[in-house]
Amino acid sequence: MSEILLSAKHLKKYYQISSSTLFSSHANRGIVKAVDDITLDIPRGKTLSLVGESGCGKSTLGRTLINLIDPTEGEVLFNGKNIYAFNAQEEKAFRKAVSIIFQDPYASLNPRMKVRDLIGEPLLTHGMKAKKERYERVNELMKITGLKAEYANRYPHQFSGGQRQRIGIARALALNPSLIVCDEAVSALDVSIQAQILNLLKQLQRDFNLTYLFISHDLSVVRYVSDEVYVMYLGQIVEAGTPKALFEKPIHPYTQFLINAVPIADPSIRDREKMILEGDLPSAINPPSGCRFRTRCPYATEICANSCPKLITQGERKFACHHPLM
Ligand SMILES: Nc1ncnc2c1ncn2[C@@H]1O[C@H](COP(=O)(O)OP(=O)(O)OP(=O)(O)O)[C@@H](O)[C@H]1O
Ligand code: SF4
Ligand SMILES: [Mg+2]
Repeated sequence: MSEILLSAKHLKKYYQISSSTLFSSHANRGIVKAVDDITLDIPRGKTLSLVGESGCGKSTLGRTLINLIDPTEGEVLFNGKNIYAFNAQEEKAFRKAVSIIFQDPYASLNPRMKVRDLIGEPLLTHGMKAKKERYERVNELMKITGLKAEYANRYPHQFSGGQRQRIGIARALALNPSLIVCDEAVSALDVSIQAQILNLLKQLQRDFNLTYLFISHDLSVVRYVSDEVYVMYLGQIVEAGTPKALFEKPIHPYTQFLINAVPIADPSIRDREKMILEGDLPSAINPPSGCRFRTRCPYATEICANSCPKLITQGERKFACHHPLM
């Protein structure tokens, strides 16, 4: 069994929505259950992925797990200690130990700062005052992320999308973190550049024993990088397992739908019967009763409307469905 680096226990994040943004007159209006009772373990040195449609709560979960967002309820343990009960010193160490890579490096990098200062900023913030020492570390970070050190005086707009993401990765690595949240880190890139960045992330993981929480709506990317995949639907985990198990034999109807929605290269299975999803993603403000997927699920029965299926573990698989596909 792997050592657990970070674990969430019954984590919830509910957002209060102001009445001016509301269209519904329902009694539950005003609360988005973006993360609703999620329990998971992230093993050290591995990649755990969160996958699901836009708005299902992936980013909220990722940010709550590294304390960028306050939870509504629940606990997060880092190396076995509750991160919400850290003292100032523990909090500072945690800030160094976790970092995040964003989807759009252009939006997350200050356009008026040179690359050297962008990558050096976390070092300065965490007390590396001596310029020489900082610049040496920046040069090292540029080298390990495949950036030429002679570009250190350039500005973000002078780089391509892929290079900008390397800058984002160098920044995220600056303080020798153990956990990096990659939030749609390659989603804005062309497929060929995506592969380069994913390979870089894998190489860095091997070299520095990094743990990744990899967030993506793209199943083909998730399949390539993950040790374990968690499928989210409207704030909840509906299925989890290794990519091999999930792709070969999805147990939850929603996972089956996601897999069927991925374009298939192999012509022998291209014409297989596809499950057609009916209806749009329901509102997160007023989700369906019982199983949240029931309004789109072809297998739904009465029990699905009346009771919310619990996430159960069977061997290496986890799923939450009254009529699992097995
Ligand atoms: N600050 C906020 N205030 C209110 N609601 C929010 C806030 N942030 C997110 N939400 C809502 O919470 C839900 C989950 O959003 P989140 O951004 O976590 O989803 P996501 O899976 O990351 O989506 P995407 O794939 O589009 O990035 C959505 O319904 C979203 O509208
Ligand atoms: S619990 Fe029912 S509605 Fe939900 S996914 Fe399973 S079969 Fe479909
Ligand atoms: Mg997101």
